[in-house]
Amino acid sequence: MDDSRETFAPTAFVTGFPVKHSRSPLIHCYWLRTLGLRGTYRPHEVKPDDFPAFIQALKAGESGFVGGNVTIPHKEMAFGLADQPDELSEELGASNTLWMEGGRLKATNTDGRGFTANLDERHPGWDKARSAVILGAGGASRAVVQAVRDRGFKEIHLVNRTIGRARELADRFGAAVQAHPMGELTDVMKDAGLFVNTTSLGMDGEEAPRIDFSPLLPNAVVTDIVYVPLKTPILAQAEEQGFATVDGLGMLLHQAVPGFEKWFGQRPVVTQDLRSLIVADMEHH
Ligand code: ATR
Repeated sequence: MDDSRETFAPTAFVTGFPVKHSRSPLIHCYWLRTLGLRGTYRPHEVKPDDFPAFIQALKAGESGFVGGNVTIPHKEMAFGLADQPDELSEELGASNTLWMEGGRLKATNTDGRGFTANLDERHPGWDKARSAVILGAGGASRAVVQAVRDRGFKEIHLVNRTIGRARELADRFGAAVQAHPMGELTDVMKDAGLFVNTTSLGMDGEEAPRIDFSPLLPNAVVTDIVYVPLKTPILAQAEEQGFATVDGLGMLLHQAVPGFEKWFGQRPVVTQDLRSLIVADMEHH
């Protein structure tokens, strides 16, 4: 008699170095609780040198985990060590979600899906324009460039202080993506329907440069993947200038959905209640 299916309570991790600041446990534990599912999701800090051994134990079924999320600085290693990374993470060279399936370690990257699901929820129709502007070409920019391209934008203007980094991403993501130095920002905003900030400009109350959004299409949407503070200086400026804005918190919430479904077997929903829980946590820390 085997009742292990009824008693098995899967445990998933979020790993990084450090990992204690991660809000993922709050999100997943909220879903476990509200869906009434058996399971655990917890932070598990792993030093970079120990990461290969951690993945080895996960593959061998000796870690006690069914899978988990991977954050900085392990996303590239997670991709490299997975048995079967999907096409999305293949192109990014980085994975943030791991799960065992048929004895193999699978990997994907859900940041881009988080980005698009957030805009789909908060500003339907955001993908109707031809042209988009993405500010910043760092680690966080890649999944956004990929997601915007995959939604069918024909012109993606990637603007970065260090032009070499923008060129590198433009080469990686194909002909729709064009690299520009900061000085061309105003020019490339002309007739764009989407503006995304992926830089740390304005994070944690830091000063942000003054941006004139008026060259954008009147119905353009401006979004920031930074969510601390929720209303970043870039979003505040866009709002003052009469543009629709979407904050970055929803990207964090939505990127968590596919992993939860893999580990715990049920597709969770991003609710206002969950959003309020994270906002309250942000106010306390
Ligand atoms: P992340 O992984 O969070 O994207 P990152 O890889 O350090 O972090 O990238 C940060 C992004 O913010 C980069 O696009 C960076 O521009 P550079 O590539 O020129 O460094 C941008 N950034 C940070 N501070 C900036 C500033 N003061 N002015 C302009 N861009 C800035």
